[in-house]
Amino acid sequence: MVVILISIVGSGRVGASIAFLCVSNGLDDVLLVNTTKEKALGESLDVASAIPANSKFSIRGTDNYSELVGSDIVVIAASVGIYTKHRTENIPHQVAMIKDIAEKIKEYCPSAIVLLVSNPLDVLTYYFQKTSGFSRFKVIGIASSLDTSRFRYYISEMLSVPQSSISNAIVLGEHGDSMVPIFSGVSVGGNPLFSMIDSRDALTDNVRNYWRTLRNFKSRSQFGIAKNTYDVIDAISNKKEISIPASIVLDGEYGEHDVAMGIPVKINQNGVIEIQQVKLDDTEFSSLKKSSQKIRNDIESVR
Ligand code: LAC
Repeated sequence: MVVILISIVGSGRVGASIAFLCVSNGLDDVLLVNTTKEKALGESLDVASAIPANSKFSIRGTDNYSELVGSDIVVIAASVGIYTKHRTENIPHQVAMIKDIAEKIKEYCPSAIVLLVSNPLDVLTYYFQKTSGFSRFKVIGIASSLDTSRFRYYISEMLSVPQSSISNAIVLGEHGDSMVPIFSGVSVGGNPLFSMIDSRDALTDNVRNYWRTLRNFKSRSQFGIAKNTYDVIDAISNKKEISIPASIVLDGEYGEHDVAMGIPVKINQNGVIEIQQVKLDDTEFSSLKKSSQKIRNDIESVR
Protein backbone atom coordinates (compact mmCIF):
# COMPACT_ATOMS: atom_id res chain seq x y z
CA MET A 1 0.00 0.00 0.00
CA VAL A 2 1.67 3.22 -1.10
CA VAL A 3 1.12 5.64 1.75
CA ILE A 4 0.48 9.16 0.53
CA LEU A 5 1.22 12.05 2.84
CA ILE A 6 -1.32 14.84 2.59
CA SER A 7 0.00 18.09 4.02
CA ILE A 8 -2.26 21.03 4.73
CA VAL A 9 -0.61 24.42 5.16
CA GLY A 10 -2.91 26.62 7.23
CA SER A 11 -4.95 24.93 9.96
CA GLY A 12 -7.73 27.46 10.25
CA ARG A 13 -11.39 26.51 9.75
CA VAL A 14 -10.93 25.43 6.14
CA GLY A 15 -7.62 23.58 6.61
CA ALA A 16 -8.92 21.81 9.71
CA SER A 17 -12.17 20.85 7.94
CA ILE A 18 -10.20 19.37 5.03
CA ALA A 19 -8.04 17.45 7.51
CA PHE A 20 -11.19 16.16 9.22
CA LEU A 21 -12.63 14.87 5.94
CA CYS A 22 -9.33 13.20 4.94
CA VAL A 23 -8.83 11.54 8.34
CA SER A 24 -12.42 10.52 9.05
CA ASN A 25 -12.58 8.90 5.60
CA GLY A 26 -9.32 7.05 6.26
CA LEU A 27 -7.67 8.60 3.21
CA ASP A 28 -3.98 8.83 4.17
CA ASP A 29 -1.56 10.26 6.71
CA VAL A 30 -2.18 13.98 7.24
CA LEU A 31 0.21 16.71 8.36
CA LEU A 32 -1.27 20.00 9.54
CA VAL A 33 1.16 22.92 9.25
CA ASN A 34 0.60 26.31 10.84
CA THR A 35 2.94 29.17 11.73
CA THR A 36 1.33 29.00 15.18
CA LYS A 37 2.37 25.58 16.47
CA GLU A 38 -0.36 25.41 19.10
CA LYS A 39 -3.01 25.89 16.41
CA ALA A 40 -1.61 23.00 14.37
CA LEU A 41 -1.30 20.79 17.47
CA GLY A 42 -4.77 21.64 18.73
CA GLU A 43 -6.54 20.99 15.44
CA SER A 44 -4.61 17.77 14.80
CA LEU A 45 -5.41 16.50 18.30
CA ASP A 46 -9.08 17.30 17.75
CA VAL A 47 -9.18 15.64 14.31
CA ALA A 48 -7.19 12.65 15.65
CA SER A 49 -10.26 11.62 17.63
CA ALA A 50 -12.05 11.13 14.31
CA ILE A 51 -9.61 8.45 13.09
CA PRO A 52 -11.64 5.31 12.29
CA ALA A 53 -10.72 2.27 14.39
CA ASN A 54 -9.66 0.34 11.28
CA SER A 55 -7.54 3.15 9.84
CA LYS A 56 -3.87 2.65 9.02
CA PHE A 57 -3.31 6.39 9.08
CA SER A 58 -2.86 9.23 11.52
CA ILE A 59 -2.50 13.00 11.76
CA ARG A 60 0.09 15.29 13.31
CA GLY A 61 0.57 19.04 13.63
CA THR A 62 3.67 21.18 13.29
CA ASP A 63 5.04 24.68 12.68
CA ASN A 64 8.13 23.21 11.04
CA TYR A 65 7.92 23.35 7.24
CA SER A 66 10.77 20.83 6.89
CA GLU A 67 8.26 18.15 7.93
CA LEU A 68 6.68 18.63 4.50
CA VAL A 69 9.35 16.28 3.16
CA GLY A 70 7.68 13.38 1.36
CA SER A 71 4.32 15.11 0.88
CA ASP A 72 2.52 13.88 -2.23
CA ILE A 73 -0.29 16.41 -1.95
CA VAL A 74 -0.01 19.84 -0.36
CA VAL A 75 -3.13 21.90 0.27
CA ILE A 76 -2.57 25.62 0.87
CA ALA A 77 -5.36 27.13 2.95
CA ALA A 78 -3.24 29.74 4.72
CA SER A 79 -4.13 33.40 5.06
CA VAL A 80 -2.48 36.46 6.58
CA GLY A 81 -5.79 38.08 7.41
CA ILE A 82 -9.51 38.23 6.78
CA TYR A 83 -11.01 40.02 3.78
CA THR A 84 -14.39 41.66 4.17
CA LYS A 85 -15.68 43.13 0.90
CA HIS A 86 -13.52 41.53 -1.81
CA ARG A 87 -11.26 38.48 -1.93
CA THR A 88 -8.47 40.70 -3.32
CA GLU A 89 -8.29 43.02 -0.30
CA ASN A 90 -5.09 41.54 1.12
CA ILE A 91 -3.52 40.81 -2.25
CA PRO A 92 0.04 42.14 -1.60
CA HIS A 93 0.34 40.26 1.69
CA GLN A 94 -1.24 37.09 0.32
CA VAL A 95 1.06 37.08 -2.71
CA ALA A 96 4.13 37.62 -0.49
CA MET A 97 2.93 34.74 1.69
CA ILE A 98 2.35 32.40 -1.27
CA LYS A 99 5.80 33.15 -2.73
CA ASP A 100 7.37 32.24 0.61
CA ILE A 101 5.34 29.04 0.85
CA ALA A 102 6.20 28.18 -2.77
CA GLU A 103 9.93 28.37 -1.99
CA LYS A 104 9.47 26.05 1.00
CA ILE A 105 7.41 23.52 -0.95
CA LYS A 106 9.93 23.62 -3.79
CA GLU A 107 12.64 22.81 -1.23
CA TYR A 108 10.89 20.11 0.78
CA CYS A 109 8.48 18.34 -1.59
CA PRO A 110 9.23 19.33 -5.20
CA SER A 111 7.18 16.47 -6.67
CA ALA A 112 3.98 17.23 -4.77
CA ILE A 113 0.69 18.14 -6.38
CA VAL A 114 -0.37 21.50 -4.89
CA LEU A 115 -4.00 22.43 -4.32
CA LEU A 116 -4.54 26.11 -3.57
CA VAL A 117 -7.56 27.31 -1.63
CA SER A 118 -6.32 30.67 -0.30
CA ASN A 119 -7.64 33.87 -1.82
CA PRO A 120 -7.42 35.65 -4.15
CA LEU A 121 -7.41 32.15 -5.58
CA ASP A 122 -6.53 32.69 -9.23
CA VAL A 123 -3.79 35.25 -8.49
CA LEU A 124 -2.22 32.98 -5.87
CA THR A 125 -2.43 29.96 -8.20
CA TYR A 126 -0.58 32.04 -10.80
CA TYR A 127 2.15 33.27 -8.42
CA PHE A 128 2.62 29.88 -6.80
CA GLN A 129 3.22 28.26 -10.19
CA LYS A 130 5.55 31.03 -11.40
CA THR A 131 7.55 31.09 -8.13
CA SER A 132 7.82 27.32 -7.69
CA GLY A 133 8.40 26.50 -11.36
CA PHE A 134 6.18 23.44 -10.85
CA SER A 135 4.35 22.07 -13.89
CA ARG A 136 1.17 24.08 -14.38
CA PHE A 137 -0.66 20.76 -14.34
CA LYS A 138 0.42 20.16 -10.74
CA VAL A 139 -0.67 23.55 -9.34
CA ILE A 140 -4.46 23.53 -9.07
CA GLY A 141 -6.68 26.24 -7.61
CA ILE A 142 -9.84 24.88 -6.03
CA ALA A 143 -12.76 27.20 -6.21
CA SER A 144 -14.73 27.02 -9.48
CA SER A 145 -16.03 23.62 -8.38
CA LEU A 146 -17.25 25.33 -5.19
CA ASP A 147 -18.90 28.05 -7.29
CA THR A 148 -20.46 25.30 -9.40
CA SER A 149 -21.88 23.63 -6.26
CA ARG A 150 -23.45 26.96 -5.40
CA PHE A 151 -24.85 27.40 -8.94
CA ARG A 152 -26.49 23.94 -8.69
CA TYR A 153 -27.83 24.75 -5.24
CA TYR A 154 -29.49 27.97 -6.37
CA ILE A 155 -30.97 26.33 -9.48
CA SER A 156 -32.46 23.59 -7.29
CA GLU A 157 -33.81 26.14 -4.82
CA MET A 158 -35.23 28.46 -7.51
CA LEU A 159 -36.95 25.65 -9.43
CA SER A 160 -37.70 23.39 -6.42
CA VAL A 161 -35.95 20.45 -8.06
CA PRO A 162 -33.37 18.01 -6.63
CA GLN A 163 -29.77 18.67 -7.66
CA SER A 164 -29.73 15.15 -9.16
CA SER A 165 -32.04 16.45 -11.92
CA ILE A 166 -29.58 19.19 -12.94
CA SER A 167 -26.97 18.42 -15.63
CA ASN A 168 -23.95 20.32 -16.93
CA ALA A 169 -24.10 23.25 -14.51
CA ILE A 170 -20.61 24.77 -14.36
CA VAL A 171 -18.98 28.05 -13.31
CA LEU A 172 -15.76 29.24 -14.98
CA GLY A 173 -13.39 32.19 -14.74
CA GLU A 174 -12.40 34.17 -11.66
CA HIS A 175 -13.24 32.89 -8.21
CA GLY A 176 -14.58 36.34 -7.61
CA ASP A 177 -17.19 38.91 -8.65
CA SER A 178 -16.56 38.30 -12.38
CA MET A 179 -17.10 34.52 -12.23
CA VAL A 180 -19.18 33.14 -15.11
CA PRO A 181 -22.01 30.66 -14.53
CA ILE A 182 -22.43 28.80 -17.83
CA PHE A 183 -26.16 28.51 -18.48
CA SER A 184 -26.17 27.43 -22.13
CA GLY A 185 -25.51 23.75 -21.51
CA VAL A 186 -27.58 23.31 -18.34
CA SER A 187 -30.60 21.03 -18.41
CA VAL A 188 -33.09 20.30 -15.61
CA GLY A 189 -34.98 17.02 -15.85
CA GLY A 190 -33.84 16.87 -19.48
CA ASN A 191 -35.17 20.35 -20.37
CA PRO A 192 -32.93 23.35 -21.12
CA LEU A 193 -32.60 25.65 -18.12
CA PHE A 194 -33.21 28.59 -20.45
CA SER A 195 -36.78 27.33 -21.01
CA MET A 196 -37.44 27.66 -17.25
CA ILE A 197 -35.97 31.05 -16.36
CA ASP A 198 -36.52 34.55 -17.75
CA SER A 199 -32.96 35.80 -17.40
CA ARG A 200 -29.51 34.86 -16.11
CA ASP A 201 -29.25 37.87 -13.81
CA ALA A 202 -30.78 36.62 -10.55
CA LEU A 203 -28.90 33.31 -10.57
CA THR A 204 -25.65 35.00 -11.62
CA ASP A 205 -25.88 37.56 -8.83
CA ASN A 206 -26.77 34.88 -6.28
CA VAL A 207 -23.79 32.72 -7.19
CA ARG A 208 -21.36 35.65 -7.29
CA ASN A 209 -22.55 36.92 -3.92
CA TYR A 210 -23.04 33.55 -2.21
CA TRP A 211 -20.07 34.13 0.12
CA ARG A 212 -21.37 37.59 1.09
CA THR A 213 -24.84 36.18 1.83
CA LEU A 214 -23.26 33.43 3.90
CA ARG A 215 -21.27 36.00 5.87
CA ASN A 216 -24.50 37.61 7.03
CA PHE A 217 -24.87 34.51 9.19
CA LYS A 218 -21.34 33.18 9.88
CA SER A 219 -17.89 34.75 9.75
CA ARG A 220 -16.69 32.86 6.66
CA SER A 221 -17.24 29.78 4.55
CA GLN A 222 -15.80 26.44 5.56
CA PHE A 223 -17.60 23.23 4.60
CA GLY A 224 -18.29 23.81 0.89
CA ILE A 225 -14.68 24.60 0.06
CA ALA A 226 -13.49 21.77 2.32
CA LYS A 227 -15.65 19.16 0.58
CA ASN A 228 -14.75 20.38 -2.92
CA THR A 229 -11.06 20.21 -2.00
CA TYR A 230 -11.47 16.80 -0.37
CA ASP A 231 -13.03 15.40 -3.56
CA VAL A 232 -9.83 16.25 -5.47
CA ILE A 233 -7.58 14.84 -2.73
CA ASP A 234 -9.64 11.63 -2.74
CA ALA A 235 -9.26 11.28 -6.52
CA ILE A 236 -5.50 11.82 -6.41
CA SER A 237 -4.98 9.63 -3.35
CA ASN A 238 -7.13 6.76 -4.63
CA LYS A 239 -5.91 6.97 -8.23
CA LYS A 240 -9.32 7.95 -9.57
CA GLU A 241 -10.27 10.60 -12.13
CA ILE A 242 -12.37 13.66 -11.37
CA SER A 243 -13.67 16.23 -13.85
CA ILE A 244 -14.29 19.65 -12.33
CA PRO A 245 -13.69 23.30 -13.13
CA ALA A 246 -10.48 24.45 -11.42
CA SER A 247 -7.95 27.26 -11.74
CA ILE A 248 -4.70 26.51 -13.57
CA VAL A 249 -2.20 28.66 -15.45
CA LEU A 250 -3.30 28.78 -19.10
CA ASP A 251 -1.07 28.52 -22.16
CA GLY A 252 -3.48 29.16 -25.01
CA GLU A 253 -6.53 27.31 -23.69
CA TYR A 254 -9.74 29.32 -24.09
CA GLY A 255 -7.61 31.85 -25.97
CA GLU A 256 -5.73 32.82 -22.81
CA HIS A 257 -2.02 32.94 -21.98
CA ASP A 258 -0.11 33.76 -18.78
CA VAL A 259 -3.14 33.93 -16.50
CA ALA A 260 -4.76 31.43 -14.10
CA MET A 261 -8.54 31.02 -14.10
CA GLY A 262 -11.21 28.36 -13.63
CA ILE A 263 -11.66 26.07 -16.63
CA PRO A 264 -12.92 22.47 -16.93
CA VAL A 265 -10.15 19.94 -16.24
CA LYS A 266 -9.76 16.24 -15.60
CA ILE A 267 -7.50 15.35 -12.65
CA ASN A 268 -5.92 12.07 -11.51
CA GLN A 269 -2.90 11.01 -9.40
CA ASN A 270 -0.60 12.83 -11.82
CA GLY A 271 -2.42 16.15 -11.58
CA VAL A 272 -4.34 17.74 -14.48
CA ILE A 273 -4.40 15.22 -17.36
CA GLU A 274 -6.89 16.94 -19.66
CA ILE A 275 -8.24 20.41 -20.30
CA GLN A 276 -11.84 20.05 -21.45
CA GLN A 277 -13.82 22.20 -23.83
CA VAL A 278 -17.20 23.66 -22.93
CA LYS A 279 -19.55 25.26 -25.45
CA LEU A 280 -20.06 28.93 -24.62
CA ASP A 281 -22.64 31.26 -26.12
CA ASP A 282 -21.58 34.80 -27.08
CA THR A 283 -22.60 36.26 -23.71
CA GLU A 284 -20.63 33.62 -21.82
CA PHE A 285 -17.58 33.99 -24.06
CA SER A 286 -17.43 37.75 -23.57
CA SER A 287 -18.04 37.42 -19.81
CA LEU A 288 -15.16 34.93 -19.61
CA LYS A 289 -12.89 37.40 -21.46
CA LYS A 290 -13.83 40.10 -18.95
CA SER A 291 -13.15 37.68 -16.10
CA SER A 292 -9.67 36.77 -17.35
CA GLN A 293 -8.88 40.47 -17.77
CA LYS A 294 -9.99 41.14 -14.18
CA ILE A 295 -7.56 38.42 -12.99
CA ARG A 296 -4.77 39.86 -15.19
CA ASN A 297 -5.31 43.30 -13.67
CA ASP A 298 -5.02 41.81 -10.18
CA ILE A 299 -1.88 39.87 -11.16
CA GLU A 300 -0.28 43.03 -12.57
CA SER A 301 -1.25 45.07 -9.51
CA VAL A 302 1.38 43.22 -7.49
CA ARG A 303 3.88 42.25 -10.20
C1 LAC B 1 -15.73 31.32 -0.69
C2 LAC B 1 -14.27 31.40 -0.37
C3 LAC B 1 -13.69 30.03 -0.21
O1 LAC B 1 -16.10 31.55 -1.87
O2 LAC B 1 -13.56 32.12 -1.38
O3 LAC B 1 -16.50 30.96 0.20
